[in-house]
Amino acid sequence: MAKSALLKSSLAKKYWMAFTGLFLCLFLIGHLLGNLQLLIPVSEGARDQFNEYALFMATNPAVKILSYLTYISILFHAIDGIWLTITNRRARPQGYVSFKPSTNTIWASRNMGVLGTIILAFIAVHLYQFWGQLKFGSLDDSLYTTANDQEVTDLYTLTIQTFQDPQYGLIWAIIYGFSMLAIGFHLYHGFSSGFQSLGVNHPKYNGFIRKLGYAFAILVPLAFAVIPFYIYFILEKI
Ligand code: HEM
Repeated sequence: MAKSALLKSSLAKKYWMAFTGLFLCLFLIGHLLGNLQLLIPVSEGARDQFNEYALFMATNPAVKILSYLTYISILFHAIDGIWLTITNRRARPQGYVSFKPSTNTIWASRNMGVLGTIILAFIAVHLYQFWGQLKFGSLDDSLYTTANDQEVTDLYTLTIQTFQDPQYGLIWAIIYGFSMLAIGFHLYHGFSSGFQSLGVNHPKYNGFIRKLGYAFAILVPLAFAVIPFYIYFILEKI
C-alpha cells in the first residue's frame, strides 16, 4: 500500500477510535447511573426498582438503538485498536521523530493496547454474566413479575447474588476492581486524546479537556468499583 494511503487509513481509524471511544464514555455514564440503583437498600424496594429499570432498558426503542450503537462501538473500537497497536509497533521507532518512551509519553498512553485487551476480556465475561443471562437466560433462572404482569429474568437477584456469593462474591468484586483500574488508566490517556483525534485542539480548551479527562478517568471507574464491594460487604443479604 502507498505510504499516503496507509497514513490516510490510519488517520481514519484514529478518528473512528476517538468517536466510538467518546461515545462509549457516554454509555459508561448512563450505565453507572443505572447501576448505582444497586446501592439502594433491599428493604426500600431495590428489587422492584432495578428490575423495572432493566425492563425499560431492554424494551424502550430509543434505548434499544443506543444499545446496538454501543455493541457496534465496542467492536469497532476493539478492532481498530488492535490494528493501530500492531501498525504502531511495526512502524516504531521510525514512525516518530523523537520517540523517547520514558520521557514523552506516560505509562497509560504506551499501554493502551494491553489495557484495551484487559477491558475487552472484562466486557466478554461481564456480558456473559449478566446481559447473556438476561437475553438467553436458562429456564430455571429466578423470575420477576413486573407491574404489568410480565415475567422477566430477575436481573436484580442475579446481580446481587453474584457479588454476595459466599465462595466467589469477593473474587468477583476483586476482578471487577482490577478491571476498573484498567479502564481508569485507559481513560486517563484516551479521554483527552480522543478529543485531539477529533480535531478539538485549541490552547484555550486543551487544559480543561485534559483535567475533565483525568476527573472522568478517576471518578467513573471508582464509582463502578465501589458497587461490587458494597454489595459484598455492606448491603443486607438477599
Ligand atoms: C459494578 C460494575 C457493573 C455492574 C454491576 C454492571 C451490571 C450490568 C448489568 C446488570 C447488565 C445487564 C442489564 C443492562 O443492560 O443494564 C449490564 C450490561 C452491560 N454492561 Fe455492565 N455493569 C458494570 C460495569 C460495566 C462496565 C465498566 C462496562 C464497560 C466497560 C460495562 C458494559 C456493559 C455492557 C456493554 C452491557 C450491555 C448493555 C446493553 O445491552 O445495552 N458494564 N451490566
